[in-house]
Amino acid sequence: MSDGGTRGAAIPPLSPREAADMAASVLARCRELARLSEDEGGLCRCYLTPEHKRANALVGRWMREAGMRVRQDAVGNICGRYEGAEPGMSAVLLGSHLDTVRDAGIFDGALGVLAAVEITARLHRDKLRLPLALETIGFGDEEGVRFGVTLTCSRAVAGTWDDAWLACRDESGVPLRDALAEFGLNPAEARGAGRSPAEIAAYLELHIEQGVLLEKARVPLGVVSAVNGARRVECCFYGQSGHAGIVPMGGRKDALAGAAEWISAVERAAEADASGCLATVGFIQCGPNVVNVIPGLARMRLDLRGPDEAALDCLYEEILRAGASVAGRRALSFTHEQFYRVRNTPTDARLRSVLGKSIRRVQKKNFVLSSNAGHDALALAALCPVGMIFVRCRGGVSHHPDESVETADVAAALSALMLALADIGHGALQS
Ligand code: GLV
Ligand code: MN
Ligand code: MN
Repeated sequence: MSDGGTRGAAIPPLSPREAADMAASVLARCRELARLSEDEGGLCRCYLTPEHKRANALVGRWMREAGMRVRQDAVGNICGRYEGAEPGMSAVLLGSHLDTVRDAGIFDGALGVLAAVEITARLHRDKLRLPLALETIGFGDEEGVRFGVTLTCSRAVAGTWDDAWLACRDESGVPLRDALAEFGLNPAEARGAGRSPAEIAAYLELHIEQGVLLEKARVPLGVVSAVNGARRVECCFYGQSGHAGIVPMGGRKDALAGAAEWISAVERAAEADASGCLATVGFIQCGPNVVNVIPGLARMRLDLRGPDEAALDCLYEEILRAGASVAGRRALSFTHEQFYRVRNTPTDARLRSVLGKSIRRVQKKNFVLSSNAGHDALALAALCPVGMIFVRCRGGVSHHPDESVETADVAAALSALMLALADIGHGALQS
């Protein structure tokens, strides 16, 4: 079946012309995919929505055209497989996510999936096969926008799915269990998405940087050393609702005013941290949320990130103490429940070296950086060695419609990825 026999064919580097054409095609497809949105005015594509289904259909079609065998797995990931020199070999898995935040940019996630499809299409066109299989996955849920839990789909693939997530509800009260069923999946079989370490030799993810380090260094690409640790916590202030025109200012238990004070304390605490921790309260619900009623409830979600686990834990404790202290002063009660915790996760040293070498061939020097944003690679690290390439994006802007990448930078990324695959094909992971 393979031109190269069981050892696989040598994979030639992309010519500059070829890389530029492929990059243009990837970017055109990112734009086409972005038309599949829940919102008319901007991009939003959440897990298990009709738009997710349409995105899987479109990307599945592109995968098939690229010579892959395509299936949707038990949690709604779209998966394509391009066999290696012999059928049934373990695979190098490429990919990223197809879900987005609200009012998103069009490259976060999609770029990595569509670059993988393009790379495979090029191998298919030239009838080239690696000694390993090459798989591409478009994860259904990395952002965690709809159900609060994050990296759901990559954790399912890594074998760390938790059935407790089935009870998580979206804003309309729909539990994940029902959303899976509505999508045509069996919630009882979600664990079936898990892959075994014997099946997956490595996971490689191409992603926009979502920061400015590459731009400052004037290089298009960098290799990711680690994905930083994160904590997410649901916090609530409970007070007493009452008549806005009657209850005197001194006698109130205003949960939202308490939340406002606490959010400022969160910001100050993170600003004072010297280790690079970031803290954000990006979600808040107020109850009863009516103009002439004092808020009796403020429910928030806090997101903490940082490269240093001890500093992160320390900031976390300080922030919770600040919540208790605000509550004490204002006669409110304060509760907190951590719903997501990941440790700082280094990428695989051999893959860093392979990717660093291919980046040096493309742009003369390598650049190493860590990621404060979460990525599917973080979840996949529980299954197999993981590696990541970051591509420069304009001004570091991300989770915003102004996200932008240069075609030439994407061409450089495709070239580096192809070189890395050729190296892996020649046994770079065995040495
Ligand atoms: C994902 O984009 C995250 O880091 O929150
Ligand atoms: Mn994102
Ligand atoms: Mn992303």
